[in-house]
This record gives sequence, structure tokens and C-alpha cells, in this order.
Amino acid sequence: MDQHWSLEFLDLYEMGFQSDLSENEYEREGFAKTEIPISNDVLAEHKKIDHADCIVFIYPVWWSDCPAKLKGWFDRVYSLGYAYGHNDNIQKMKTLKFGLVICTAGHPNEFLAEIGIAQSMQTIFLDDRLGKDLNIRKC
Ligand SMILES: Cc1cc2nc3c(=O)[nH]c(=O)nc-3n(C[C@H](O)[C@H](O)[C@H](O)COP(=O)(O)O)c2cc1C
Repeated sequence: MDQHWSLEFLDLYEMGFQSDLSENEYEREGFAKTEIPISNDVLAEHKKIDHADCIVFIYPVWWSDCPAKLKGWFDRVYSLGYAYGHNDNIQKMKTLKFGLVICTAGHPNEFLAEIGIAQSMQTIFLDDRLGKDLNIRKC
């Protein structure tokens, strides 16, 4: 059955995605200066999110989190007014139907659960980054 799926693959390294906040972006995010315009590469990511029903994050666990490249994607793309702190002037992030996180790790799941890291990664990634405020349903 043709379900009319379309997939868009993004490789942040291949894209050369800038993962560090610029000084301007720090000023905007850190001091709630929504009058500072959002960078074009971040707006392009917003557009991709707004066209998606589901986002799948795939990464290796590095020091109990995602690699800095992906962490920086959240730092920059989940910008003020878009992902949080909504106001009337900035279009807010759409409510996605599904989010999925797939990560590989050096340690087995059982060990990561035993030392509490599996739970903390779940809390940070699922609840905070994909969670309640963003209304992404967990599956
Ligand atoms: C910088 C770095 C940090 C890592 N930190 C962790 C870690 O905190 N916990 C863990 O289980 N594995 C850790 N690993 C192991 C990677 O998660 C593992 O090599 C990766 O998931 C394997 O992916 P692959 O099967 O796609 O090659 C780390 C690896 C690197 C390079």
C-alpha cells in the first residue's frame, strides 16, 4: 500500500551545521532579546521541523549525552519564541505527531540502567528536548 511517506535525511556534519551559538545568538537567547533576528540556517531548520510529522534522532552516546554537534542543534534551533517563551511575533514550533530517539552506546543497556545514566538520558532527551512543553508524543 502506498502510504505517501517522504523522508528527509540530515547529517549535521555533512551539512557543516554550526553548533556553537554566535555572540549575537547568545545575546538573544541569554537575555531574551527577541528583537535580534534568528539566523537563516536556524530558520531553515525550523522550516524542516514545520514540514515534518515525525523527527527521528540517531546518534552515538558520547559522555552520557548526544555529541556536541547535535546538542548545538538544540541550543540554536530551539530558539526563544519558537520552541519556548512564545510571543505573538514569532511563529511557534508545530506540534509533531511523533518523535523517536535511537542511540548506540559502548555500554550495554543494563549497565547504563544500573548506574542511572539510561534514566537521566531519557529524562533529558525525551522529557526535556522532545517532551511535555513541545507536545511530542513518545512512542
Ligand atoms: C567521545 C566518546 C565518548 C563516549 N562516551 C560514551 C558514554 O558515555 N557511554 C557509553 O556507553 N559509550 C560511550 N562511547 C562509546 C560510543 O557510544 C560507541 O562507540 C558508539 O555508540 C558506537 O557506535 P557505532 O556502533 O555506530 O560505531 C563514547 C565514545 C566516544 C568516541
